[in-house]
Amino acid sequence: MARVVAAFNRVTPTLVDRLRDAVGAERVLIDDESLELHASDETEDLVFRPEVVVVPASADAIARVMRLATEFRVPVTPRGAGTGLSGGALPVHGGIVLSTRDLNRILEVDRENLMAVVEPGVITQVFQETVERAGLFYPVDPASRGSCFLGGNLAECSGGPRAVKYGVTKDFVTGVEAVLPDGTLMHHGGKLLKNVTGYNLTQLIVGSEGTLAIVTKIYFRLLPLPRHRMMLLAPFDSLEDPARAVPAIMHAGIVPSVLEFMERDAVEITERHLGKSFPHAEAAAHLMIELDGNDEGVVQRDAERVAEIVLEHHAKDVLVADTDAKMGELWSMRRAFGAAVKSESVYKEEDTVVPRNQLVALLTGVKQIAARHGLRTVCYGHAGDGNLHVNILKMDMSEERWNTALEPAIREIFELTVGLGGLISGEHGIGYVQKNYMPIAFSAPELALMRAIKRAFDPLGILNPGKMFP
Ligand code: LAC
Ligand code: ZN
Repeated sequence: MARVVAAFNRVTPTLVDRLRDAVGAERVLIDDESLELHASDETEDLVFRPEVVVVPASADAIARVMRLATEFRVPVTPRGAGTGLSGGALPVHGGIVLSTRDLNRILEVDRENLMAVVEPGVITQVFQETVERAGLFYPVDPASRGSCFLGGNLAECSGGPRAVKYGVTKDFVTGVEAVLPDGTLMHHGGKLLKNVTGYNLTQLIVGSEGTLAIVTKIYFRLLPLPRHRMMLLAPFDSLEDPARAVPAIMHAGIVPSVLEFMERDAVEITERHLGKSFPHAEAAAHLMIELDGNDEGVVQRDAERVAEIVLEHHAKDVLVADTDAKMGELWSMRRAFGAAVKSESVYKEEDTVVPRNQLVALLTGVKQIAARHGLRTVCYGHAGDGNLHVNILKMDMSEERWNTALEPAIREIFELTVGLGGLISGEHGIGYVQKNYMPIAFSAPELALMRAIKRAFDPLGILNPGKMFP
């Protein structure tokens, strides 16, 4: 099988000079601190130092950098805010890290078309709040929204808790402007809800983890901001009952805007991490359910029906949060889960996804596999999407036992996931840390097709090498 070419050169003083000419000397960083700062993202404890960091301020400047990278055969790793969880922004072959942080303008919020046009370095929460002031809604809400960039969200096709009702990043991107690895500037799509004009290059780039092109402008579809929302929190004595309640809620014809699952350890670790307490922290698991809509009466009645269903599934209680303050408090705890787990122990996180009615089988299977390998898991995630984050914690296990137990356990978890009709990443991406598991999800011809697409965009393999493919 033909491989993506991966023979790279080192960054030379000549290249650094040419980069300075291309983007401005102050936008080319080679000091230790800058290289260190761009050597890791939020993925476990991985560190790969780039040789140089460039911070271009325009699409044209990015195109100039890519033309130089092509000429010098030096790898380029695009980077947003570095909040990724699969190592997508790690420069695993050294070379250039290209930061999009200075392309950070919201170019347009178009209320007539319910669209927005942005640059990739806009912080997701800033975007959400800007469109909300115009009465509009961008529902994609990753836990890192306070610092992650829209460009990174696009590259990873970020999901988050509202996918169950509203979808993920791909469902909101209607067009892109992007720089190809050879420096060509391309456009595809636009403020269009419909477009079957040729292959859907926009959606090929969404979720491509910065391996095909560097996005320099994004067209987003928006929604009117729902006027009412309320949250229910239901504690349970078992892991299975809440997982069973999830398809039952959908079966009742109600689609909550959020349907989150969390097991006790995730809650307790986060309580310790934040020094705050969570209601019913002693429960084996919780469902956190949000409903939204324009008609307060309908939201209320749906919430009552959901409460009945979870009680039928043996919830111990149903707590209601109906003010922004109460909901905000619960959300700030929920959004801290990832950071809390990270601070607890060396860990490895799997981002399993199955059809939501297979969640019970996934959870039960994960716990059995972990027990068999003597590993501790902490599970939480987006139950409404069948997307379970399985965190495997090392705790005080010896290096040696950890290293022998981890790999086969992960393999078994992924085989279970795929056997249930699922896949190995729902929203964090493949990147560097999951790439060797791709053959569990895809056949050799399927992987070859993906590699051929990569080659069509990037024949020299200089854009974000060492990612996605085993
Ligand atoms: C979350 C991130 C880890 O759900 O995806 O908190
Ligand atoms: Zn998540």
